[in-house]
Amino acid sequence: MRGSAWQRSCLGYKERFVDDFEFNGIRVRQFPSRSVFEKAVSDAIGANVLDASDDEADNDRVPDTAFTVWDASVLLGIYASRKDVWSRLTKKKAPPNCSRPIVTLELGAGTGVASLLFATSEVVRETKYTYNMMMTDLQSAINFTRLNVHANIHNIPNNVTITTQPLRWGRVDDMDALLRDIGHPDILFGADLLYTCDKSVISALAETVVMLTGRVAVFAVCKMHRPESIDFFVSLIECNFDVRHIPASSVQMDLLASDDDFAVLELWRRKSRI
Ligand SMILES: C[S@@+](CC[C@H](N)C(=O)[O-])C[C@H]1O[C@@H](n2cnc3c(N)ncnc32)[C@H](O)[C@@H]1O
Repeated sequence: MRGSAWQRSCLGYKERFVDDFEFNGIRVRQFPSRSVFEKAVSDAIGANVLDASDDEADNDRVPDTAFTVWDASVLLGIYASRKDVWSRLTKKKAPPNCSRPIVTLELGAGTGVASLLFATSEVVRETKYTYNMMMTDLQSAINFTRLNVHANIHNIPNNVTITTQPLRWGRVDDMDALLRDIGHPDILFGADLLYTCDKSVISALAETVVMLTGRVAVFAVCKMHRPESIDFFVSLIECNFDVRHIPASSVQMDLLASDDDFAVLELWRRKSRI
């Protein structure tokens, strides 16, 4: 069944690409394109914010996908915030060992909805753990992600630290820098990242997931874009991970998410490397 309130594919242009998006207490800005975002920032601060170091080779091959909310990010945020899922992913039930923060890493965070839903969820608020949540995206999009983190900072509980950092898939220097900063995350997140038919982008993403994931990565995928890219991605990573397919319809009953349109993939590393 399609068309429940969280799904945005049937909305008009303004609701989909211009208006703020609100869900479960978070509110994020959206822009129809990167240039509209950059113009808004330039107008606000009276200076040109175009990034001089912009590297065409790493640009999003489907331009500007970062600046709007994709349905899979909502699905992922809700899924990761479920108590049973969280316990399984962190393998930390009670009593908690609070000495080390739980580290999460989101790739291609865009508006930041998935991590923000998780950061503000009951499961995070109620536990005694501390969390380091890192959100990454391309250099050209990360200031936008940052803007949305700041817009929601009043809702982020005290036990959560959120950081944002540019990270280009497949770039060893970026991945090394991230590993130096946070090590292998306890949970790696990705929402709607398998949307392009460009195999070089999917291969770079797979390389990144193999290199950075500690125990588990969780992806919410939209099958409406390029289902063949999902299969290609799985074929690249399955020698390193056990892949568990979670039906989208089971994520939360009242979402009415269609299994034809979405899925959640849990990638469990075969042999612990850390
Ligand atoms: C379809 S959007 C999904 C955004 C967000 N996760 C969501 O679901 O709303 C894909 C995201 O991947 C990012 N991206 C694309 N190519 C990338 C690359 N080579 N390295 C890092 N991020 C990339 C885009 O900037 C964008 O934020």
